[in-house]
Amino acid sequence: MTTSQPSQSESAFKYFDLYGSMRSQRFMLEDMKRMKAYHSAIFNNKSKIIENKVILDVGTGTGVLSVWAAKAGAKQVYAVDASNAAELARHLVQVSNVSNIVTVIQSKVEDVEIPEPVDVIVSEWMGSLLLKESMFDSVAYARDKWLKPGGLMLPSHASILIGLYAPTSDHDHTNFVRAKFEQDMAEWNETVTNLQRLDVDYSSFTSDLEQDLSDYFLGNAIRVNYLSPDNLVSEPQRVLDFDCATVDPTALFQFSQDFQFTVSKEAEIRGFLGWFTTDFPNGVVLNTEPGQTYNHWGQQLYPLKESIKVVPDDKVVGTVTVRRKHEKSRLNVIEFKYQVGSGAQQTTSFDMGTVEHMHKGSKSFMFSHDF
Ligand SMILES: C[S@@+](CC[C@H](N)C(=O)[O-])C[C@H]1O[C@@H](n2cnc3c(N)ncnc32)[C@H](O)[C@@H]1O
Repeated sequence: MTTSQPSQSESAFKYFDLYGSMRSQRFMLEDMKRMKAYHSAIFNNKSKIIENKVILDVGTGTGVLSVWAAKAGAKQVYAVDASNAAELARHLVQVSNVSNIVTVIQSKVEDVEIPEPVDVIVSEWMGSLLLKESMFDSVAYARDKWLKPGGLMLPSHASILIGLYAPTSDHDHTNFVRAKFEQDMAEWNETVTNLQRLDVDYSSFTSDLEQDLSDYFLGNAIRVNYLSPDNLVSEPQRVLDFDCATVDPTALFQFSQDFQFTVSKEAEIRGFLGWFTTDFPNGVVLNTEPGQTYNHWGQQLYPLKESIKVVPDDKVVGTVTVRRKHEKSRLNVIEFKYQVGSGAQQTTSFDMGTVEHMHKGSKSFMFSHDF
């Protein structure tokens, strides 16, 4: 058996295929925190930001941001999406009676030709921990090609924050992956016994499988929702902050930032947590921090193999590095180098978001995906 990396066009196809249906677009429309933030970002102070302006909506999906821009008084909106969602956008534009203002174009924004430069670029490009999916590359490309000098970016700024996770109750979100690991190992041990009865011995494969499963279950980010901020044992740290109008997107391919947490209470740290915020020019902030309001990105939880016992005023210092799996990849790896006080330095790294665990009400599920 041979395996190979998907070519860029194959993986681009998978990516746009994923977005081309109402089945996937609806998760974003159901995220009211996201929807309200973009609604306010477009309608609050619309006379300065939107009215009589030419707008480019990068990755319009079902067209919602373009329809809002038209209703907020835009002169002309170009709504671009490479996926079949463009058909959904055409429909929404039509039923919203804004066909005279919004032009929907099914194309990669990198390939699109529009008749004029634009005053504003609006886009919802953020992935898990901000950068997963690497869609900001396309937004920056459109910015450099189509945005007038001094034009506005919506959102205008973006940040990544990290925190220390110590569960306050017996509901430890990292137990989910630990339990899955233990269950898979128990099932394998039973399989080894069953196969021994069938005259074949697989026991010598056990340690490799154990390592492989441990790397998989404890080497991937876990997506969590509805996490109380009480689960953080120090102030969060901002580890990335950029201006969407000026940042060179290649600077986001890899970055490192030192951190220093001062622990506020006695606790057992079970992982690092990460999330993002985006700011809009009129002061609206879309903040995906831990809290009781659902957002579909949730927070990313990076489970530690060994938990760390801490007391108030302990310092956890280190460096976080985020890098793309390879230059064209839409996926990232995140690495934490850290130490507590003068203890030994530890290093742990994770794939960003291939195992996901989500709580929505009482629902809890897990799935893997890649593109
Ligand atoms: C996160 S969704 C946002 C959809 C919509 N703007 C909303 O807010 O509901 C991102 C969309 O961008 C599209 N997209 C991503 N990269 C693109 C590119 N380079 N050119 C055109 N569309 C792109 C995807 O197909 C997807 O529909």
